This record gives sequence, C-alpha cells and structure tokens, in this order.
Amino acid sequence: MHILGTGSYTPKRVVTNDDLATIVDTNDEWISSRTGIKERHISEGETSAELGARAALKAIEDAAIDPLDIDLIILASFTPDLTLPNVACQIQEKIGAFNATCYDLNAACSGFLFGLSSANAYLVSGMYRNILVIGSETMSRTIDWSDRSTCVLFGDGAGAAILTADNEKAYVAVSGSDGVKGKVLTGGGTILKNFLINSDTANIVADTFYIKMDGQEVFKFAVSKVPECINQVLEKAGKTPDDIDYYILHQANVRIISSVAKRLHISEDKIPVNLHKYGNTSAASIPILLDELRRDGTLKSGQKIIFSGFGGGLTWGASYMEI
Ligand code: UT7
Repeated sequence: MHILGTGSYTPKRVVTNDDLATIVDTNDEWISSRTGIKERHISEGETSAELGARAALKAIEDAAIDPLDIDLIILASFTPDLTLPNVACQIQEKIGAFNATCYDLNAACSGFLFGLSSANAYLVSGMYRNILVIGSETMSRTIDWSDRSTCVLFGDGAGAAILTADNEKAYVAVSGSDGVKGKVLTGGGTILKNFLINSDTANIVADTFYIKMDGQEVFKFAVSKVPECINQVLEKAGKTPDDIDYYILHQANVRIISSVAKRLHISEDKIPVNLHKYGNTSAASIPILLDELRRDGTLKSGQKIIFSGFGGGLTWGASYMEI
C-alpha cells in the first residue's frame, strides 16, 4: 500500500490552558506537566463532516487525483453530528467523490488505524483502487465542560490519507479489542428526546452523552498495550525497533509516549509529538501528525514507520508501513 496524499484541518479557534482555567478549577502547570498539552482547537459549529471534508480536500490536492477516482471513503469517528446519513456520505457530497462507496467506522482513538488496515485489505484483494481514509472528531460536542478531569484533554480536528495499491511497499498490522474493560472510557451517546423531557433521567443523559474516563486505568492500559502491540507488529514484519525511522503514535499524553519510548528502548527523537498544539483529537490524531510530518519533510519515501493507537472500546493496534 502506498500513500498518495495526506491532508489535515483543525478549527480556527484556539483554547489555551489559561482559557480553561477561567471555566474550571485547573491551571497550565497541572495540564502541561500531567499531559504535555498547551492548547487545543475547538469547533465553532463546524461538524465532523465539515472538518473531515476540509482535510480530505487537502489530501486530494496533495495526491493530485480527481475526486471521481476515489472508490471508497472510510470515515473514522465516534463524534458524528448525525448517524444518518453517515459522515462519510456527507463528506462524499462535499468533496464530489461521487463514485465512492462510503461508510463510517467507530473504534474511538484507534479508528484511523483500523481504517488504514481495512484499506490495505481491500487494496490487496483488488476490490478498490483508491481509498480515502479520514479520522475526524468534534470532541467538544461530547465533553462535559464542567469536568476538569476530561475537558482539558481533548480537541477537535481531522486528518486524511489517500491510499493506493503498491506491491513494493509492505503494510503489516496487528490489532485487538477488549469489550470487557470498555467501561473505563465511555460517552458520545445520542440524546433521545424522551430523556430530555424527563428530569428523572437527566443523570442517564449525562452518563451516556459526556465522556467519562477512569484516567489511571486508561493510562495503565496504554503504557502496557502500546509497546506490546508494537513488539508484535515488529516481529510479524521481521524488523527490530532500530529498523524504524519514525513511530507515529496516538497523541493522548506525552507521559504515555515517554513510557513507550523507555519500554521499547528507542530514542524519543523517533517519536514525533504535536499534542501540545491539539490535545487528544481521538481518531484524527494520527492522520494530523502524519500529514504534518509529510509536509515538513520529516517523512521521506523509502522510510519505515510504525503507527500505533489505543482508545475506547477498548481498542488498540499497531501497523508497520514502508512509505
Ligand atoms: O485516547 C485515550 C484517552 N485517554 C487517555 O489517554 C488518558 C490516560 N490517562 C491520563 O492521561 C491521566 O490519567 C490523566 C492526565 C487523565 C490524569 O492524570 P493523573 O496523573 O492520572 O491524575 P489523577 O486522575 O490521579 O488526578 C490527580 C489529582 C486529583 O486530585 P487529588 O484527588 O489528588 O486531590 C484530581 O482531582 O489531580 C486532580 N485533577 C486536576 N487538577 C487540576 C484532575 N484533573 C485536574 C485538572 N486540573 N484538570
């Protein structure tokens, strides 16, 4: 599989840690030292479809292809503005990819990675030729802005990649899920009208709609599962950690990234970070970083990269890719 083009987009409005300190009991020192996040972009009414379409248009321009040559759009998100029509279909209309089959995929922060692996399977089978995979999230719509333990962590944004078949460039993946532990990270449900008119059910609404997280459990899961699945994918690809040029990891917490570097005995120079600018953008975090690294010249043809992500579900995965 070969990356033909990438694109990313984040909303214009930037919310700093100091801005958040005016609405909840927090401060820049706590947020920066515990997470590495300094600011995040927050949508002012733009939907996941709008963010995703803007990122997709940039990827199409970068790939220099006609939107009509896109055969499949896989949209990874757990924050669709509507469940019907699906976000991928809304994006199809906005970008004019009228020959594409379109569907959404929800694997929370692992969504883009699962989308990449789905794309690879289709390309290997010969079913499609050009596949657009997008991660797009409006996390701000599912955040409880009075809960300091979660509202400081997330941001909105979208990233996209266009993939095509290439027998010369290997793609190897491992992935997994654990529904038994899913309760440590929940939210993003649809509010039913009945709930809104019945005050007895207000707590149910809050519990299902807003993100709730047992941060320490998610942290423990991430620092053990990410190195484990990276080791698995390295073994499957017949590579060692030193063979890899860059590790493009889900951007949730800089302490998780440092811990992964230590456990794998790799230099943090090989693990680019941009979460200080965007916070955790869930399914969008890996493609936004991928796009930035391609555009600033860090990633070059011939390199070997690892992607790895983890998130709600619980879900996780790692992919080895020759670019
Ligand atoms: O994409 C997957 C998504 N999730 C993650 O990757 C999250 C993984 N987990 C984490 O990144 C960390 O667990 C957090 C950053 C969420 C929290 O860091 P922590 O070191 O685990 O802090 P904690 O939850 O143990 O809280 C420590 C203290 C508590 O106060 P007390 O009980 O010690 O008095 C919290 O109430 O920090 C307090 N606290 C805050 N203080 C200031 C929690 N949130 C804040 C805040 N500002 N925003």
